[in-house]
Amino acid sequence: MASIILPRVLEVGAGAMARLPAVLQGLGCRNPLIVTDRMMARLGYLERLRGLLAEAGMGADVFADTLPEPTAASLEGGLAMVRDGDYDAVVALGGGSPIDSAKAIAVLGRHGGVINDYRFPRQVDEAGLPVIAIPTTAGTGSEATRFTIITDERTDEKLLCVGAAFMPVAALVDYELTVSVPPRTTADTGIDAMTHAIEAYVSRKANGYSDSQALAALRLIGPHLRRAYHDGEDRVAREAMMLGATLAGVAFCNSSVALVHGMSRPIGAFFHVPHGLSNAMLLPAVTEYSLPAASARYADCARALGFAGLDDDDARANAKLLETLVAINEELRVPTPAGFGIDRDRFFEVRHTMAEQALASGSPGNNPRVPEAEEIVRLYEALW
Ligand SMILES: [Fe+2]
Repeated sequence: MASIILPRVLEVGAGAMARLPAVLQGLGCRNPLIVTDRMMARLGYLERLRGLLAEAGMGADVFADTLPEPTAASLEGGLAMVRDGDYDAVVALGGGSPIDSAKAIAVLGRHGGVINDYRFPRQVDEAGLPVIAIPTTAGTGSEATRFTIITDERTDEKLLCVGAAFMPVAALVDYELTVSVPPRTTADTGIDAMTHAIEAYVSRKANGYSDSQALAALRLIGPHLRRAYHDGEDRVAREAMMLGATLAGVAFCNSSVALVHGMSRPIGAFFHVPHGLSNAMLLPAVTEYSLPAASARYADCARALGFAGLDDDDARANAKLLETLVAINEELRVPTPAGFGIDRDRFFEVRHTMAEQALASGSPGNNPRVPEAEEIVRLYEALW
């Protein structure tokens, strides 16, 4: 049996952002707090959103100080606004970080406490303020997941928080907002989305529903990831990547992520590597490690992505999957840990702690091949 959780409303396609006032009205809300970041203000998206709300006679207060890879402290300004204000919804505008911040603000703002109180394995099902998510990258899928990730800056640990409380009530999935995303971010977020779909499909928690969404996501992402990276104006590629990223979010929300994400979060927390980039660094090596335990499943992924042909047997499809993942990292200029500027000595010093944190997140336990702490340490070492 599978329990499926989805946003109640999805508006998908060019111009979906303009549906915000109607969606809020449909939810009986009229005084939202917009949670976003400085980049969205600079790009003019924030002003467009405020204009739409003002035209509809709605409030449009803004908390624009969310940070990339948000920390507990970075939420404080937004939480103070919710405590002191009279908001009936939170509108999240931006990439995964503003959306994750908005989810935490919506729950903490209503129920109090600190983010540490809400960390996995607690299931957070008590509803916070309704969140309407407007993603501006094709990546995290956070607009369609019941997860948020907030860093505890005191311990350098990325806290995974899980529950229906973190599922946006609505998502406006408007690929036009991604046309201006630069190539580096396009690559990192796109590889993140591809990783979501692969991990959802090979996970021990996979089910018929998540499989259908994961395969659909892979069919969209495989042929369009490199196109969107090379030509940001390629609207066909942007549209496919945006829908693919949302479907990949649906897939892993209703299955799970696995070892790549489990190992990726500690790298992000310790070395401030963007989430999609640390996934990209890990994906080929972790796939190679995991393949023997789920050969047929990884072969399905390779075929859905278009990296292998329908007439390739599983062994051939697996080999092509590995080759193509390595080639994509080269083509999309994914740096090695050293190339990114990570200090090797520091990395080796904390690799055991990172392995413990990876295991504690629960994600490695969903991997088709479940590693011991020592095996995770060796996978970290193999990145060098
Ligand atoms: Fe991710």
